[in-house]
Amino acid sequence: MNFIYGSVPWERPVSSQRPVLIFDSGLGGLTVLREARYLLPYETLIYVADDAAFPIGRWPEPELKSRILGLFADLVATHDPKAVVIACNTAFTLAGEALREAHPAIPFVGTVPAIKPAAEQTSSGLISVLATPGTVRRTYTRSLIESFASQCHVRLVGSDSLAVLAEKHLRGSEVSDEELLGEIADCFLEQDTRRTDIVVLACTHYPFLANRFRKIAPWPVDWLDPAEAIARQLVRVLGDEAAVAPSAAPDRALFTSNPREPGLSRLLSGFGLVLEEIGPR
Ligand code: DGL
Repeated sequence: MNFIYGSVPWERPVSSQRPVLIFDSGLGGLTVLREARYLLPYETLIYVADDAAFPIGRWPEPELKSRILGLFADLVATHDPKAVVIACNTAFTLAGEALREAHPAIPFVGTVPAIKPAAEQTSSGLISVLATPGTVRRTYTRSLIESFASQCHVRLVGSDSLAVLAEKHLRGSEVSDEELLGEIADCFLEQDTRRTDIVVLACTHYPFLANRFRKIAPWPVDWLDPAEAIARQLVRVLGDEAAVAPSAAPDRALFTSNPREPGLSRLLSGFGLVLEEIGPR
C-alpha cells in the first residue's frame, strides 16, 4: 500500500530529471548553490568548477571567453541541462551573452555586480564594488553603473587575491586579518560628512569571507550578497519545469582539474555534493 502525504507519495519515487548546472571557476558558486538548494529542494544539481583555470579574474578576455564557450559546448552535450546558472561575475559579464546565443534553448541565469540594488538602497550615495580585476574591467560593469547608479559615487575595487584567500579560508587554512584588510581597505571612502555605506560583493567567493570583513571593517556597511536573488531568478526561470519530486541521483560536483583531495570531497559533501571525476581540459 502506498501512503500519500499531500500529493507526494510516502515512498519517494525515483525520477530521472534533467539537471540544473551551476558553474563557477572554483568554490565561490557554492554560495549560490546553497540558496538554490534551499528554494528548489528536489532539483538535481550539478556543480561545475573550472578550477584548472582558477583564478579566472586575471585571465585575458579573449582566451577566457573561448575557454568558457568550449567548456559549455561539452557540458551541454553531456548533461542536457534544463537550466544553467553562471554563478560567477567574472565569467558571466564576459561570456553570458555569447553563451545564450550559442545555446538558445537553454535558460542561462547570470550573476552580475548588484549595482542596481546598491544604488536603490544607499543612503550616503557612496557605493563600492569589490570584484576580481576582470569584472572591474568589463564594459558590462561600466554600463551597469551608467544605467543604474549615475546619481551615486561608485568606486570599483579590483582584488587580485581575495578569491584565492576565500578558497584558503574555506579549506581551513590560516588567512590573516591584515591580508584581508589590505584587499578591502579601498572600499571605504569618506567624502565630507558622507561615508561608503554599501559594498557590493561582486565575486561569488567573497560572501564566504563576509563575517571576517564585518569584523575588520573600519565602519559598518551593508555587504551585498546576490546569492539569494540569483536563486530566486532560477526559480522564476524554471517555472513549471521545477522538479516536484526527489530524484534518486545524487547532486554531483565536477572539477576540471580532477582534484583528488579528501578534504575537498568532505567540504563538498557538506554542500550535499559528491565529487566525481571528469577528464582534464
Ligand atoms: N567567483 C568568481 C566571480 O564571481 C571569480 C573567481 C576567480 O577569480 O576565479 O567572479
